[in-house]
Amino acid sequence: MRDPKRVAVLISGRGSNMKALVEQASGYEVVLVACNKPLAAGLQWARKQAIPTWCWDSRGVDKAQWETALDEALQDHRIGIIALAGFMRILSPEFTKRWAGRVVNIHPSLLPKYKGLETHKRAIEAGDSVAGCSIHIVTEELDAGDVLAQVEVPILPGDTPESLEERVLEAEHQLYPKALAEFVAR
Ligand code: GRF
Repeated sequence: MRDPKRVAVLISGRGSNMKALVEQASGYEVVLVACNKPLAAGLQWARKQAIPTWCWDSRGVDKAQWETALDEALQDHRIGIIALAGFMRILSPEFTKRWAGRVVNIHPSLLPKYKGLETHKRAIEAGDSVAGCSIHIVTEELDAGDVLAQVEVPILPGDTPESLEERVLEAEHQLYPKALAEFVAR
């Protein structure tokens, strides 16, 4: 039986949001870290914490096959909710439909602004005075599902995409665990 408190975090890289979700878990537990990049730093960290991991290099692999294998791992671990955290692969419509309402993502912009990549650069170039991050439900349309929580981060004079990214990331680490706890308890 799927248990909403049993969370799988999907990553592709550094995994700093995954780490925040693990370290600040409340009302949920990260019981699986799944990854599509064998050398992802986040995967090494999860292994060191003895969190069960699943990884299959997705390069050159048929998406349906890869997702079927992921689904099996999710079922084996009785996962109720999937939290995407820097997972750089677009999930298929079949997968998002199967998991409808049970997959959340963190995106480094104030959605619906700046879907996709290079969010900080685009916010600075547009002359915005605030940036931020959003937690949203994952649907088949990229970065378009209902927003569950957001936090604003001011854009300061002289900010570069890198300096802004650093401050937004700190806000992400505070927002995601809180938003996930509320989502699980809803
Ligand atoms: C974060 O900025 C997140 O918002 C975006 O990808 C980045 C992942 O960073 N989706 P990390 O792997 O969690 O450190």
